[in-house]
Amino acid sequence: MRLIIVVAAMLALFNPIKMNAQQQVYSLDFDANTYTLQSFTFNGREYQVRAFENIVYVANPVDTAYQKINIYVPEEYFHGERVGKYTRDTAPIFYPNGVGGYMPSAPLTLHKQRMRNIFGQRQGGRPPQMPQQAGDDMKQGSAIHYALAHGYVVASAGARGRSLQNSEGVYTGKAPAGLVDLKAGVCYLRYNGHKIPGDKEKIISNGTSAGGAMSTLLGATGNSSDYKPYLIEIGAADMPDHVYAVSAYCPITNLDHADCAYEWQFNGVDTYEAGMMRMLDGGNPSQNTSNQLTELQLKTSDELKTLFPIYLNSLNLKDSKGDLLSLDEQGNGNFKEYVNSFVLAAAQRAIDSGQDVSDKKWLIVKDNKAVGLNLEEYIRAMGRMKTPPAFDAFNMDAPENHLFGSAAVTAQHFTQFSYDYSPDKGTLANHEIIKMMNPMYYIGAAGSNTSDYWHIRYGTIDNNTSLAIEVILATYLQNKGYKVDFELAWDRPHMGDYDLDELFDWLDSIIK
Ligand code: DHB
Repeated sequence: MRLIIVVAAMLALFNPIKMNAQQQVYSLDFDANTYTLQSFTFNGREYQVRAFENIVYVANPVDTAYQKINIYVPEEYFHGERVGKYTRDTAPIFYPNGVGGYMPSAPLTLHKQRMRNIFGQRQGGRPPQMPQQAGDDMKQGSAIHYALAHGYVVASAGARGRSLQNSEGVYTGKAPAGLVDLKAGVCYLRYNGHKIPGDKEKIISNGTSAGGAMSTLLGATGNSSDYKPYLIEIGAADMPDHVYAVSAYCPITNLDHADCAYEWQFNGVDTYEAGMMRMLDGGNPSQNTSNQLTELQLKTSDELKTLFPIYLNSLNLKDSKGDLLSLDEQGNGNFKEYVNSFVLAAAQRAIDSGQDVSDKKWLIVKDNKAVGLNLEEYIRAMGRMKTPPAFDAFNMDAPENHLFGSAAVTAQHFTQFSYDYSPDKGTLANHEIIKMMNPMYYIGAAGSNTSDYWHIRYGTIDNNTSLAIEVILATYLQNKGYKVDFELAWDRPHMGDYDLDELFDWLDSIIK
């Protein structure tokens, strides 16, 4: 004990600046008097909001560039007025995160939002093509504008991410830091109770891709004690961190099973088109490359594919009729039909809304009914984006390897498979941390308060992860009794917030 005090005193003597920096404690008390008035136009009408921006939301931040929150409140609520059916006290709180590629993410703002980030060259990176639909979606306004115009309070927390380092080169944003930060933001909102407008028991998390995974994790892991030491370390407000509902677009999740799911889907597709996020260029997409899988990659695909039925069968998932979903050793079985049924349902909705689906040669349409599909052709048309193993790369250059780095190590493995079979040497991430980044281990588990309401979307031409990962997540939730609105979105690539009318109709239906 005495030794520790002596060492601490010496450190303080030799490094006074550092000690000071570490000691700065931030107040968690929300200051309602510090704001700017901002406005935006939505559907041809101008809206006024009070903007409370760049508030550090933890007492002992590691990085104040990211651990800060922006809060936007309709001006009406400061004059005792209603917006739509909501008041200052009943307004739900929309909680979108800007996480992409598991990179550090600044809090979203009224004017700089995720859509732009996703297709820009900054956060996370996307395949360079920007679909026509995305431009149209932007014209409809962002999710934040949409929420505010409908009387929601909006709060967006920044979060640390995988590339972050402090001045000494120590990594400060490896898992589970980003998730812990988003939880801390929720704690901050609750801690300030009535001082911040909005109903703290109606917080709706929203995110896309890695941010969709974070949204899913917020909903799955509410109040789990696993994250408590991390929350204490950064001085998060000692309040519950659960959220009411989850909106997740193309969540890149269940990472420790995503490799085998990807090969279950793409085995046999031996070329790839990669706009992959590699660390070489700081997490931005490298040049699109089109290539042939190597001998080792082909063999790896075959091996990973055989692991998927074992995982799937272990879940004992049931369809809506209560029938067990399973796969045989070859990966065939009613689970495959079940996945197909979501693709067909998406096609049917497209047909019913008057879209032309005739360019999809793999789709069988009779009398305006999507009656069948040639799965192999569909997957081939979608194309493979990632090489096996898709997430836990043998050479550890995938974003997820970097997510699972540690304070000292930039990238690690997170599956036994890649750890065992990689020709390169690498270390395996801590089991507890891998668990903390996978919502599947927490949904309905003892000790976590899982959200009751889930809105999950994944595009039918998104090849960033396997369709199976999304279907498994939604079905597992449903089987555990949660209320899940899950659809595949017709012809959508890797993107989010494209069905805001639908999303907010759904939210209105669950907010009583
Ligand atoms: C994202 C996309 C990926 O393909 C991935 O592996 C991780 C994250 C993203 O867009 O956030």
